[in-house]
Amino acid sequence: MNFLSNAAQAVNEWIDANIKTEFRYNINLYDAMRYSLKAGGKRLRPALLIIAYDLVNGFSTDLKAHPALAYAAALELAHTYSLIHDDLPQMDNDDFRRGKPTNHKVFGEANAILAGDGLLTLAALTFATAKDEIPPHRKLSALALFLEAVGPLGMVGGQYIDMNFADFADSGRGELLETLHTQKTALFIAASLSCGALLAGGGDLEVDALSNYGKHIGLAFQIVDDILDIEGDPALTGKASLQDEKNKKLTYPYFFGIKRSKTIAEEHIWAAKEELKRLKRDTAILSELADYIYGRNA
Ligand code: IPE
Ligand code: IPE
Ligand code: MG
Ligand code: MG
Ligand code: MG
Repeated sequence: MNFLSNAAQAVNEWIDANIKTEFRYNINLYDAMRYSLKAGGKRLRPALLIIAYDLVNGFSTDLKAHPALAYAAALELAHTYSLIHDDLPQMDNDDFRRGKPTNHKVFGEANAILAGDGLLTLAALTFATAKDEIPPHRKLSALALFLEAVGPLGMVGGQYIDMNFADFADSGRGELLETLHTQKTALFIAASLSCGALLAGGGDLEVDALSNYGKHIGLAFQIVDDILDIEGDPALTGKASLQDEKNKKLTYPYFFGIKRSKTIAEEHIWAAKEELKRLKRDTAILSELADYIYGRNA
């Protein structure tokens, strides 16, 4: 998608300009952080923040000078941290990510853990210290929303269920599946949009509709990721296939089968687009993005 590649280019330039150190003892730590950041990636979350910002404030053409670029890039730092830790031997034990050996394969486990820690803390610091015209109260609301989405009731909590779901044998698997996918993936995607809307000064309706849209595309996104783990081409996904089966993960395709999982993903895409109608604005790009997310499993 054109917008995604433009946003990716702007984020990559921000990373080059901002993620570096001359402090000699830490240069290798920065190398490890940059290795995973620069390995590629769709840059979906930064693109969502920018789109949501522009939906409230009007579309800007020059993404490299976008007023919310630092916040968008911060989301990519946090996302990349989550991938580095997700791949660790004690988590999913993966050897390939973004078409390259995983961070711990190159830098060792201790350094991969530290690279992840560094990226997450730099993400929060970026929100708190970005120098721009955005009023401080908006930054604080956006930072709180972002941290909540990646914290123990968000992504970290979802990763916890992902690693320990066998402990919850008493709860319905269908309900557990949705909670797990929502926390692990959808809340961060939803927060990417609501952060953008908040930073731009959007009201409750905008924040709410965009956040609901984000939860639906986020669920569809993880369902498609789980389908791609079975049917996808590693040359395109950049990661090895059948990892979920290897790790006996609780996923939609293993619980419902591939066909039903595709239908569920499609229903979430539909529901996401319904949320957009509440905005009464030109949301063509978000509609297109929802189709792109579903279309990845085609
Ligand atoms: C992978 O995220 C992890 C999931 C939440 C499924 P992405 O599919 O966005 O990974 P990159 O950033 O493009 O590598
Ligand atoms: C991970 O889900 C989602 C995160 C919060 C990092 P997966 O474990 O399915 O992601 P991949 O397939 O390794 O990218
Ligand atoms: Mg995982
Ligand atoms: Mg994984
Ligand atoms: Mg996966």
